[in-house]
Amino acid sequence: MNPTSSVLDTASAHLNRSSPKEAAAVLEGLSAKQKYLPSWLFYDTAGSRLFEEITRLPEYYLTAREHSIFSEHAKEMIASAAGLEKQMLSVVELGAGSASKTLVLLHALVASQGHAIFMPVDVSETALQWASKNVHDALPTIEVLPICSDITHEKPLKLPQEGRRLALYIGSSIGNFDPEEAVALLQWLRSQLQPADALLLGTDMVKDTTTLLAAYNDKAGITAAFNKNILTRLNRELGADFMLDEFNHRAIWNAAASRMEMHLDSKQNQTVRIPALDRSFQFKRGESIHTENSYKFTPEDIGEILLKSGFSLEKSWYDADRWFGVHLARVVDSVSMIDGNAEEAA
Ligand code: AVI
Repeated sequence: MNPTSSVLDTASAHLNRSSPKEAAAVLEGLSAKQKYLPSWLFYDTAGSRLFEEITRLPEYYLTAREHSIFSEHAKEMIASAAGLEKQMLSVVELGAGSASKTLVLLHALVASQGHAIFMPVDVSETALQWASKNVHDALPTIEVLPICSDITHEKPLKLPQEGRRLALYIGSSIGNFDPEEAVALLQWLRSQLQPADALLLGTDMVKDTTTLLAAYNDKAGITAAFNKNILTRLNRELGADFMLDEFNHRAIWNAAASRMEMHLDSKQNQTVRIPALDRSFQFKRGESIHTENSYKFTPEDIGEILLKSGFSLEKSWYDADRWFGVHLARVVDSVSMIDGNAEEAA
């Protein structure tokens, strides 16, 4: 038997709500030369609440800018997605959460076609219950069909066959994936759709460094708390003994990779024990755990990523400063795609 898997099985059996996936990810990340933790570990109950708080911070412009773009252009977005043939749209939203950000678009959808199917996809059952309630209360003619699934597992979505499908992936969540992972995710999404189906993709754009740094290092310290919460989670779920005060939150702009990075820097030489992994990890003073990448895009990047994923970019809407963009893309007919790569179709 693989000794690592026996350690991980024991870990998940004994400890507080940890999963073998979590234990394996932590073991791999903290054993790497540049220590890292995957950013999906942020989103336990406390982390999801902190993220909600982040979206309301004055420095974290992303959510407000995206909302303003939807408020201004939702009608046009729906009309463009439905096309000249005015096809009936069903909406599927990846990583929908409570779908509160989606309501403005769903309002425009109801105004245009009266009723619709809305399929929020999320890993969290609780978030999906909220999504169903939020949408049902505001728009009773929308039929909500929630799908509890992790989109990175690429399980088939079973979407409605009638009319046209409009997929939403908003909030710049695509920016938390490395470029190859982002393309793989969008290629999978494209495989769930049909020619002429549409995608609305929300992305944070490259901008001045001061604005970016402030967004990931807010004055109230909420982003720092969000970052450190990952250690609280490992303490609770894997029995680790991270001392939160012995780590500093650090956000940097990595211009070469076009991404914001979040790190947790060790304030001193220290050893952290993780009983669930039966391992201790040494940290040198100043050594970091890399916890998140948040890629920022140029308009050219967007066209390229979409094309590689089997979509063609039709139109982008931006706020007045072009800090955030929402892009409408169309599924490229698979006949014109070579090996799942649409570059030749351009
Ligand atoms: C969820 N995601 C798009 C956020 C972002 O901006 O990358 C997560 C976040 N990290 C720090 N603040 C917010």
